Amino acid sequence: MALPKHVKLVEVGPRDGLQNETQIVPAAIKIELIERLADAGLLAIEATSFVSPKWVPQMADSADVLRAVLSSPRRRPQVAYPVLTPNLQGFDAAVEAGAQEVAIFAAASEAFSQKNINCSIAESLKRFAAVVDAASALEIRVRGYVSCVVACPYEGSVDPQRTAWVARQLLDMGCYEVSLGDTIGAGTPASVRRMIEACASVVPIKRLAGHYHDTYGMAIANIYASLEMGMAVFDSSIAGLGGCPYAVGASGNVASEDVVYLLDGLGIESGVDMDKLLAAGQFIASQLGREAASKAARALLARRRAGEKQEAR
Ligand code: HMG
Ligand code: MG
Repeated sequence: MALPKHVKLVEVGPRDGLQNETQIVPAAIKIELIERLADAGLLAIEATSFVSPKWVPQMADSADVLRAVLSSPRRRPQVAYPVLTPNLQGFDAAVEAGAQEVAIFAAASEAFSQKNINCSIAESLKRFAAVVDAASALEIRVRGYVSCVVACPYEGSVDPQRTAWVARQLLDMGCYEVSLGDTIGAGTPASVRRMIEACASVVPIKRLAGHYHDTYGMAIANIYASLEMGMAVFDSSIAGLGGCPYAVGASGNVASEDVVYLLDGLGIESGVDMDKLLAAGQFIASQLGREAASKAARALLARRRAGEKQEAR
């Protein structure tokens, strides 16, 4: 199959990335990061999550962050700022702060569902159905996630049919898109292809997104395999930030800079300006006191420092 001509990137760094930081990042830094990401041309930026601050202390300032981003004079009307909502309590708080898009997050593995949101998959789907109903009454869009789509840190390999079943439940509930999370980044193009084949047989591929953590360095290969299957929406995290607090050892999502380098090289349009993206990555990396975990960013910045031209890709 021909590769897509255009890909939509969903930037998840401010949420999926920062939720895993142990040092508390001030709200003002999160807000500045989100604005820089919007300036770089990203059209969907997951801003924060309305989860229990006892479970994820880093996201305790979610209402402040979302309110500031939505009321900022730098806000770009074309950009969506979805936020995670695990239940009606989180949904109500998100709406109160002005959310116009939310995301619900289920898992394909029972053990992960319990560890992450303290309930079974079946119970989570009931909670999410209530969130989707409340959202649809307010014309708020809902994105769905499935975690552990190929492997679970507690249960090992996950049956692709199981992932596909959960993805279909989220679609039937009313999610406009379902993002497939390789939470621990254990997938390879072989297992990711099998998983997408199963999902695409029950959910149109145009409504599926890839959310690949890069723990084993496979995320770019998995994105390429997904592109070959016709997938055209990918989640990524600026500077490769993050991981999931309930998946020990899982590293960040694939770095946004690496994905944009791949897409630019393939001639696939993403609308993202690499220079501005690199600057946003440098901004958050310096705030966290480390280098960006993106090979493309490191290489491009080193070449620029040395005054060299970018070689052909
Ligand atoms: P629980 O303890 O079972 O909740 O947690 P509960 O309903 O029994 O309530 C207990 C307390 O939590 C109460 O407070 C509630 O008010 C409060 P208390 O009376 O003890 O003071 N509470 C809340 N507070 C704020 N916001 C809320 C909320 N709900 C209850 N929404 C719960 C259940 C789902 C809340 C909890 O397990 C939780 O917050 N989990 C979130 C975990 C999380 O954020 N994980 C990371 C995001 S998922 C991810 O990273 C994967 C993804 O990237 C895809 C991939 O990579 O695979 C999306
Ligand atoms: Mg994730």
